[in-house]
Amino acid sequence: YSEEEKTEDYLFKIVLIGDSAVGKSNLLARFARNEFYPNSKSTIGVEFQTQKMEINRKEIKAQIWDTAGQERFRAVTSAYYRGAVGALLVYDISRRQTFDSIGRWLNELHTHSDMNVVTILVGNKSDLKDAREVTTAEGKTLAEAEGLFFMETSALDSSNVTAAFQTVVKEIY
Ligand code: GTP
Ligand code: MG
Repeated sequence: YSEEEKTEDYLFKIVLIGDSAVGKSNLLARFARNEFYPNSKSTIGVEFQTQKMEINRKEIKAQIWDTAGQERFRAVTSAYYRGAVGALLVYDISRRQTFDSIGRWLNELHTHSDMNVVTILVGNKSDLKDAREVTTAEGKTLAEAEGLFFMETSALDSSNVTAAFQTVVKEIY
C-alpha cells in the first residue's frame, strides 16, 4: 500500500442472510449496540448499520446489511448483495428447518455476489440448549463441506457474537 492508502478507512459491506426469525437483526443489534429485543418484529425492507472495528491497529468500518428472511418483506435481491465482501449465513439451532434452508441461501449468495465473498455459517440461539435440533457437529460438517467458517452464537447471552463478525472482517482484511 502507498502511504496515502494507509491513512484511508476501510469500508466493508457485510450481509446477513438466513430464514425468518433465526435472529439476524438481534445479532446485529447485539454487535452494534449491545442490545437485545426479546419480541422483535420481522425486518421489512433493508436496514444497515456501520460499526467501527479495530483489526491490527487499523480502523475498519463494517457496514452490515440486514433484510427479511421472508420473501415478501425482502428488498431487491441484487441490490442487497451488490458489493458485499462478507456474509453471515444464519440458522437457528433450535429449528432444523432453518438449517435445511442453508443450501438455498448459499445458492442465492453465489448467484448474486462474488464467489470470494468471505462467509461464516452461524448457528444462532446456542442458549436454547434444551430445544436444540441441530448438533454442533452437523453445523461444522456442513461448513467444512462448503468451505465456510463456522460458529455457534447467542444474541441473547452475547456468546460469540463479536467473534463471528470479527472472523469475517479479519479474513476480508
Ligand atoms: P426476519 O427479520 O424476519 O428475517 O427475522 P430475524 O432473523 O431478523 O430474527 P430476529 O432477530 O427478529 O429474532 C427473531 C426472534 O428470535 C426474536 O423473538 C428474538 O428475540 C429471538 N432471538 C434472536 N436471537 C436469539 C438468541 O440468540 N437466543 C434466543 N433465545 N432468542 C433469540
Ligand atoms: Mg430481521
